Amino acid sequence: MRMFATIALLLGAYGLFAQDNSVTTVSILGCHSQDTPAPTIPYLVNTLKPDYCIWVGDNVYADTDDNPQYIQDQLNLLAAKPGFNQLKTQSKFFVTWDDHDYGKNNYGKRYKLKEESKQIHRKFWMLENEIPANHDGIYYSKIEVQPNGKKVQFIMLDGRFNRDRPIKPNGDAFGKNQWKWLEAQLQQPADVRFLVNGYQILLEKPTEWEALIKIGKSRKKLIDLLKKYKVNNALFITGDQHYVEILESDKKLGYHTYEIMSAGINTTEEPGHPANRVAGPDLTTHDATIIEIHWQAAPYLQVKTYNVETGQVNIDYRIELGDIGCKSDCNQK
Ligand SMILES: [Fe+2]
Repeated sequence: MRMFATIALLLGAYGLFAQDNSVTTVSILGCHSQDTPAPTIPYLVNTLKPDYCIWVGDNVYADTDDNPQYIQDQLNLLAAKPGFNQLKTQSKFFVTWDDHDYGKNNYGKRYKLKEESKQIHRKFWMLENEIPANHDGIYYSKIEVQPNGKKVQFIMLDGRFNRDRPIKPNGDAFGKNQWKWLEAQLQQPADVRFLVNGYQILLEKPTEWEALIKIGKSRKKLIDLLKKYKVNNALFITGDQHYVEILESDKKLGYHTYEIMSAGINTTEEPGHPANRVAGPDLTTHDATIIEIHWQAAPYLQVKTYNVETGQVNIDYRIELGDIGCKSDCNQK
């Protein structure tokens, strides 16, 4: 009897030892007006201290038809913001752009300064190793191995450089090379994948906003890739709107996931009303969004938005990692 008790005790102790209580934190920033204060940045530095920061686009507003130096100057204003350099030192940045830091409102592949803008972006965000100088865009991807061995994959999409105009019926958002690259990234082993795009992915039609569903068959193609490779851990991180909301994929997609749309770190605007919204909108002007990945036996993500002036938490939403993925209809197209 005593032996059984000892074994039970040992198993219990092993259970305790094996329990993984570690947490990885990821913040999302974007739609930053370079001309007004951004207290979200020092709040992240001093209070939330995220492991990673995703800059989701419109990181500055730098619209210009003919002056690349103007784009550089607006980025320099961001670099001079209180806390920016500290944040860059203490959190690892993952960056994409949207239209306004690409350089022109709602523009895609026809933007005249796209090459110049790309070189400025690579240099400013220190992405020269990740993005070759002759790359057709600023897309890149990285797998970050956590201290507990878990892998977080950041897939930074570029929905601007190769994007056809939405009115084109067979238009494409990413271009042939980026699709091929994406397919390869989805086959890498990872425990959680964040697919990051400047504008929204799970918004359904009709919508007045820019959205992947409006660009030919791009949205279907993306979901089909997730199904094809039975990717069971992909979430979308997007920006563009100046508030925070979480969308859940519609059942008819056959792939269950969520989109965390978070931008407007020092701006706000009237929200849309997507039917598949499950949290938000949080319209706080100075807010900070954080995703906590809790690596316990059944890992989950806790998504929180903070009012950085009061410390109040507005959105506090839990996503079970095990609920994500293609279920029975994985092989259907
Ligand atoms: Fe914006």
